[in-house]
Amino acid sequence: MKTKLAIFGGPGSGEIVAQSVVGLDDRFEFIGYLNDGLPRGGKLLGGDVLGTFGQWSSLPDDVQFIAPLHKVGEMEARLEIISRLGLPDNRWATVIDRAAAVADNSTVSFGTAITCFALVGPSNRVGRLVAMWPGAQVGHDAQIGDFAFIGRNSIVSGYCTVGTGAFIGSGSVVRERCRVGRFAVVGAGTTVISDVPDYAIVAGRPARILRVAKHGSE
Ligand SMILES: CC(C)(COP(=O)(O)OP(=O)(O)OC[C@H]1O[C@@H](n2cnc3c(N)ncnc32)[C@H](O)[C@@H]1OP(=O)(O)O)[C@@H](O)C(=O)NCCC(=O)NCCS
Repeated sequence: MKTKLAIFGGPGSGEIVAQSVVGLDDRFEFIGYLNDGLPRGGKLLGGDVLGTFGQWSSLPDDVQFIAPLHKVGEMEARLEIISRLGLPDNRWATVIDRAAAVADNSTVSFGTAITCFALVGPSNRVGRLVAMWPGAQVGHDAQIGDFAFIGRNSIVSGYCTVGTGAFIGSGSVVRERCRVGRFAVVGAGTTVISDVPDYAIVAGRPARILRVAKHGSE
C-alpha cells in the first residue's frame, strides 16, 4: 500500500522533494503541500496547497510528512518552527529517491529526504529531517546531524561529523575526519580541511571563517 505524503513548504525545496515521489514512485501517493504563504488550492509540482503548516493535524492519520525547509541563514529558526509543529515521530516519512543509493549498513532516520543521485556510503548515520540534495554524497563512517543540509554535488568524506542544522552549500568538499559544527554554514564551492566551529560561516578553498553568526540570529 502506498504511503500518503504531504510536504511542508512549496516552491523550490518542496518541489525538489516532490520530484522524487511524483509520477514514478510506487511507495508514495503525494497529496500536496502545506504552506503558510500560498493560498489554499494553489498548484505546485504534482500537488495542491492543502492548507497552512498548523493544519497538518486535520489531515488523516495515515498521512506522513516531510519538511525540506532548510535555508541558509535561517537553519536554527526553521528547525524551531518544525519542532513547534509537534509532529509525533511516526508521522514523519523518509524519502529516498529511486535514483539515490544508501548502503545497507547505513541508517537514515525519519523526516529525511535523500534526493536523486545522492549517495550514502557504508556505515554512516544520517539523522532526522536531513536534506541531501541531488548529487550529494556521504562517504563512510560519518554522522550527519538532525536537520543538516547537504547541497547539490557536495561531498562529506569518511569519518566526518556534521552537526545539527549545519548547511553545506552546493559543490563543497569536506575532508575526511572533519567536524562541521552545529548550525555552521559552508559556502558554495568550499573545501573544508579542518573543523568548522559551531555557528561559523566559512567559504573558499581552503575554507576560511568569514564570521561566526551570533547565536540564533543567522
Ligand atoms: C558563504 C555565504 C553564506 C556567505 O554569504 P554572505 O554572508 O552574504 O557573504 P558575502 O556575499 O557578503 O561575501 C562575503 C565575502 O565572502 C566571499 N564569499 C562569499 N561566498 C563565498 C564562497 N562560496 N566561496 C568563496 N568566497 C565567498 C565574498 O567574495 C566576500 O569576500 P570579500 O569580503 O573579500 O569581498 C554564501 O556566499 C554562500 O555560499 N551560500 C551558500 C549558497 C548555496 O550553496 N546554496 C545552495 C542552494 S540549493
